[in-house]
Amino acid sequence: MNKKKVLLISYSQTGQLNDVLSSLSSPLLNNTNIEVTHHIIKPKKNYPFPWNFFDFMDCFPESVYLEPCEIENIEDNNDYDLIILAYQVWFLSPSIPITSFLKSSWAKQKFKNKPVITLIGCRNMWIMAQEKIKKMLLELDAKLIDNVVLIDKGNSLETFITTPRWMLTGKKNSIFGLSSAGIDENEIIKSQRFGKALVDALLNNKEKENKSLLYGLKAVEVNIKLIKSEQIGIKSFMIWGNLIRKIGKQGSFARKPVLIIYLLFLLSMIITVVPINMIIQSILRKINKKLAIKQKEFYELPSGSGNERMKEYQ
Ligand SMILES: Cc1cc2nc3c(=O)[nH]c(=O)nc-3n(C[C@H](O)[C@H](O)[C@H](O)COP(=O)(O)O)c2cc1C
Repeated sequence: MNKKKVLLISYSQTGQLNDVLSSLSSPLLNNTNIEVTHHIIKPKKNYPFPWNFFDFMDCFPESVYLEPCEIENIEDNNDYDLIILAYQVWFLSPSIPITSFLKSSWAKQKFKNKPVITLIGCRNMWIMAQEKIKKMLLELDAKLIDNVVLIDKGNSLETFITTPRWMLTGKKNSIFGLSSAGIDENEIIKSQRFGKALVDALLNNKEKENKSLLYGLKAVEVNIKLIKSEQIGIKSFMIWGNLIRKIGKQGSFARKPVLIIYLLFLLSMIITVVPINMIIQSILRKINKKLAIKQKEFYELPSGSGNERMKEYQ
């Protein structure tokens, strides 16, 4: 039997997403019939971590408008049976290094007609980013067969404080009794179940069927309360991002005052409009339950939130 070739693509600032990918892919690496290659995306100009405040805010227009940065070339002529693309979310969009990779000529060659699994590690808002990834994969003629999502362990209120604190100071520890920042260690370890299911699928040529290989493993869970917030959030990012891009290039001084105004606007919205909107949305969801369920199911495709195979791959 020819060895199955699996390509892993990732970028991670803190190393968190690489840890998730290592855990998920460990069953593949331990199987002698499977060959795994991992390419890490390297931007030519590094995004420093922890972020300084202005650099953090300044990358939002380019993130939402999917503007690539320069990345190091990848030298690799292999043909792959399966691709796992691990990415994080920046401003409800794929991170700039991942967008840049998907827009590269190398990705154009390698992704054509290939089954692709996306793996997301983020705070908790990934739905709009995944919609953008779906479009980019379609443009590459790639086939999205699964999506696995791991989110930070705290609730929305906790991570509203702990995730930005982690990004801006590098500190993940718990403060004021809040959960520490980032994805739960146990969830990272448990993501091996996906790798185990992939080994079985690859050894039975299932990746050729262009169907989900990770269904029934709780790959993804859409929080219906966040759908509308993401839809409104991305619209606001597009409007303000467009304005800021007209004012100057990324890094230019002229952008700074507008970024501060936008941040103040965003915070005032979060304190006033967002809670009112959440109440209205929860009433609307109760009135139209079917629509809410339909939306949840749509955004959970192709893997779904079912758990029927959990015992098999624990
Ligand atoms: C600039 C920036 C913007 C972010 N925006 C979001 C976001 O919109 N939604 C979200 O769930 N997480 C967001 N995050 C958190 C990241 O998705 C991710 O969890 C964090 O950066 C750690 O990833 P890494 O260390 O593996 O790169 C953002 C992080 C950064 C640095």
